[in-house]
Amino acid sequence: MIKPYRGSGIVLDIGTGDGRFVSASAKAQPDKFLIGIDANAKPLEKLSTRITRKRAKGGLANAMFVLAAVEDIPKEFDGLADRVHIHFPWGGLLRAVATGDSEILASLRRIASAGCLLEIVIGVDPIRDKAELERLGIQGVSIEKAVMALLPRYFEAGFRNVERKELSPAEWNDIETSWARKLKNNRKRRVIYLSFEAC
Ligand SMILES: C[S@@+](CC[C@H](N)C(=O)[O-])C[C@H]1O[C@@H](n2cnc3c(N)ncnc32)[C@H](O)[C@@H]1O
Repeated sequence: MIKPYRGSGIVLDIGTGDGRFVSASAKAQPDKFLIGIDANAKPLEKLSTRITRKRAKGGLANAMFVLAAVEDIPKEFDGLADRVHIHFPWGGLLRAVATGDSEILASLRRIASAGCLLEIVIGVDPIRDKAELERLGIQGVSIEKAVMALLPRYFEAGFRNVERKELSPAEWNDIETSWARKLKNNRKRRVIYLSFEAC
């Protein structure tokens, strides 16, 4: 689960950060096209240059990075994605997916093709992240309560829940992103996996 993508079509990684997931997936699957999107320009600058190199020097002909906030994904992406990943969101992106913001969910549905799989991995430490969660208006993330309350909001936006579960440290340590590595040693972090199908 949540290894570099091995399906078909176009894959978007929203809140891609340093793009590790996109690079690993693009390398593993040269016949797929990976697009990393982030609201922060800094990490995208180096990446966008690196992927234009020759393949032997880290170039990737099947990946691109786009500077955009989830609130403002260009209309050229409409109906494009066969798969959308959101790994370890933070800030506005966390608020949007963890509260089921109807406008953002509508944007995610807009960029998804029919049958598109949306995978979300949310990781929070309820004590350490308390102030930030309060600031974002998130009551606390638990599989039992908050997630169940979220599902109707996703359904209203056109996403049918396929799977929801709390990941064990062994499972989420295995996710191919830099934040999964960074957060690895915090055993108090609760990591929730949600997947939806666009209907
Ligand atoms: C904790 S990092 C995770 C990065 C990457 N997915 C990973 O797992 O390594 C959260 C990312 O979400 C991005 N982000 C926050 N708010 C966003 C928004 N409104 N739209 C798009 N990206 C956003 C941040 O810039 C940051 O790169």
